[in-house]
Amino acid sequence: MNILFVASECAPFIKTGGLADVIGAVPKALAPLGAKVRILLPAYPALSAELARGREVLPLPDLLGGPARVVAVTARGLDLFLLDAPHLFDRAGNIYLGPDGTDWPDNALRFGALSQVGAQIAMGALDGWVPDLVNAHDWQAALVPAYLHAAGSAVPTVMTIHNIAFQGVFDADVLAPLGLPADMFTVDKGEYYGRFSFLKCGLMLASKVTTVSPTYARELMDPGFGMGLDGVMQARRADLTGIVNGIDLDVWNPETDPAIAAPYSARNLRKKAQNKSALQDRFGLTPDAGPLFCVISRLTTQKGLDLLLEVLPSLLAHGAQLALLGTGDKGMEQAFADAASRHAGQVGVIIGYDESLSHLMQAGSDAIVIPSRFEPCGLTQLYGLRYGTIPVVARTGGLADTVIDANLAALDAGCATGVQFAPVTAMGLEQAIARTCDLFAQPKVWAAMQRRAMRQSVGWETSARAYQTLFQALI
Ligand code: ADP
Ligand code: GLC
Repeated sequence: MNILFVASECAPFIKTGGLADVIGAVPKALAPLGAKVRILLPAYPALSAELARGREVLPLPDLLGGPARVVAVTARGLDLFLLDAPHLFDRAGNIYLGPDGTDWPDNALRFGALSQVGAQIAMGALDGWVPDLVNAHDWQAALVPAYLHAAGSAVPTVMTIHNIAFQGVFDADVLAPLGLPADMFTVDKGEYYGRFSFLKCGLMLASKVTTVSPTYARELMDPGFGMGLDGVMQARRADLTGIVNGIDLDVWNPETDPAIAAPYSARNLRKKAQNKSALQDRFGLTPDAGPLFCVISRLTTQKGLDLLLEVLPSLLAHGAQLALLGTGDKGMEQAFADAASRHAGQVGVIIGYDESLSHLMQAGSDAIVIPSRFEPCGLTQLYGLRYGTIPVVARTGGLADTVIDANLAALDAGCATGVQFAPVTAMGLEQAIARTCDLFAQPKVWAAMQRRAMRQSVGWETSARAYQTLFQALI
């Protein structure tokens, strides 16, 4: 079967978060199951080398205000269709935000165009390749089902939600420039409190809806998590599945990772200590023997890191250290930088985005803290498991589905892999950190938990089969 993915990010080419990792990994996991995936992706400047090597497969003399074309290229084991539309995508800086830090003013046109071209490919615009199904990811691709519906096409579509906080909501007058009929602006399609929502439109019109963990699938129907789309999710309940994300086991492998100081495995965990030393060195931390917690994250309210700021004194009182790598909210960046200068040697903070350092952090830390208020799946706890870095997580979304809390019963039964807490408050986090430090102080219990975490299956195998079954049923 031939599947077209439409998405705005794909690792290792262009990444702002976990969406990219997933788009870059699922096609490789589906290939051995007989599903051939091609990915339609905007040709941002980061893809200029791939674009130059590619072959034009579809000229588009006027795509929403400028000349464009689709270029096919195979790169890093992935089959890509690059949407080369310089007037929309050839700009420096962040792929979603202008230099002033707010959304590019023409984001509706940019990602509307991506969806429109996805629909054209689905309807046979290319010579020699037509997909049996389109999987649209997040709001940036959510108008694929709308364009197909408007054209009366029966090609099946799957709409995948990676994060419902981002919905692509614009004034209703975007419909005309996007070339969509006025009847898209109805309550059973894209109308959303007087405006037009890309994501709602996609959710209403797609054949099936998936999200990235079973718990988040349930949470989405709850007003506390649905962000105004809980009613839509309830309406589509029968067509909604949660399929938990996996990770790329080749890229995230402590035995072969070129970005870490010393390779190690569950059998020679002692070598993990060399990575801890390297990490303490890199963050200017004293070479203490207490537990080293890390954070690798976007700094936003979703991630709950304001709670960590609140409980930092208590974390330090346990003799623990913190290493944080992140970017995002300017106030939070400043607050963590201040904490680092107040507690030099115990708290290290690097503001920035650094893929290679994130590997060393997973290898060198004892635990990774993820106090998210909501988390559709989360990938850093999965990397943590694989690297024997114990995840300390909020009990929500994919965090709830992938970490087994070290309560007494789970420790007795020998199945604990991390620490979970609820409710997601500063007090909850404080207690979780205290529990983690207690466990760390029992070397045998801790090492057993690390080895168990490292053996937990976190690859794509099971979930790829779930996607394959879902796709097959629709074709
Ligand atoms: P989200 O997609 O909501 O940001 P995920 O946990 O699914 O959360 O994915 C985040 C991805 O981005 C992970 O691969 C993580 O390692 C990476 N990441 C986040 N912040 C940074 C950073 N500052 N430097 C390097 N990698 C980062
Ligand atoms: C989103 C979510 C994250 C998830 C990722 C990939 O960015 O915030 O939880 O892991 O998408 O699906």
